[in-house]
Amino acid sequence: MIKKCLFPVAGYGTRFLPATKSMPKEMLPIVNKPLVQYGVEEAIEANMTTCAFVTGRGKRAITDHFDISYELEHQISGTGKEAYLGSIRSVLDKGVFTMVRQREMKGLGHAILTGRSLVGNEPFGVLLSDDLCLNAEGMGVLSQMAELYHQFRCSIVAIQEVPMDEVHKYGVIKGENLRDSIYRVDDMVEKPAQEDAPSNLAIIGRYILTPDIFEILEETPPGANGEIQLTDALQTQAKRGLVMAYKFKGQRFDCGSVPGFVEATNHVYENYYGKD
Ligand code: UTP
Repeated sequence: MIKKCLFPVAGYGTRFLPATKSMPKEMLPIVNKPLVQYGVEEAIEANMTTCAFVTGRGKRAITDHFDISYELEHQISGTGKEAYLGSIRSVLDKGVFTMVRQREMKGLGHAILTGRSLVGNEPFGVLLSDDLCLNAEGMGVLSQMAELYHQFRCSIVAIQEVPMDEVHKYGVIKGENLRDSIYRVDDMVEKPAQEDAPSNLAIIGRYILTPDIFEILEETPPGANGEIQLTDALQTQAKRGLVMAYKFKGQRFDCGSVPGFVEATNHVYENYYGKD
């Protein structure tokens, strides 16, 4: 069973300035719940109850969120407002939360390498909480991927078809379609120009990684934007062994961008708010 999920939450969130000047992007709420809590709930649903945060300076609010607030608990205990704490209490009851700081922002690959001491030598999930994934009909995306892991025992990336004029925002795969939603990855490129993209199958912020990824990341030189790219390390892993890509069931909102964030807010308000 995969027990741990890594949350790289050290990024600056520049696209949300000035909101993210002194507040972590991951604490921006979709209606009344911070983005990172949606992510943690998805991980816990997949039985990945150890949530390991790779944080940075100015991100303390995230670790505080996953701890008791004694004053608040005391104030509203026994009042009609106590129910508002229900979802976070349930998360705190089920999860264990660990953290390490990424001192320099050297990219997603570097953030994952920084999380190595929290993960150890076992397969693990990775969840980028600015990609909000919802699946009203069934299992969350990480649960779907964990199930697939038991069949293939290799790293798995979640993918989504995107319009060709948006491929430059993503890591993009080239792969062989094995069955309906499963691809064997032959190649991947980070943020390709439209004319260089091998497909329109874009990697989104959900991964299952096998622990050999750490050694590969250690020897991966900085790539696009001078950052250590997870996509480059996954490409090496695919060339040496096996990496699968999975077209997940559900909806994904790019909450790292303002339009995606607004779309998610409207969707959650209309479909979920006040219904649990
Ligand atoms: P993004 O590329 O979305 O960067 O990172 P960002 O800083 O969060 O946002 P913008 O582009 O400045 O608005 C993808 C994910 O990788 C994490 C981020 O926190 C985000 O979840 N990340 C990125 C790190 O943890 N460390 C890094 O060095 C880079």
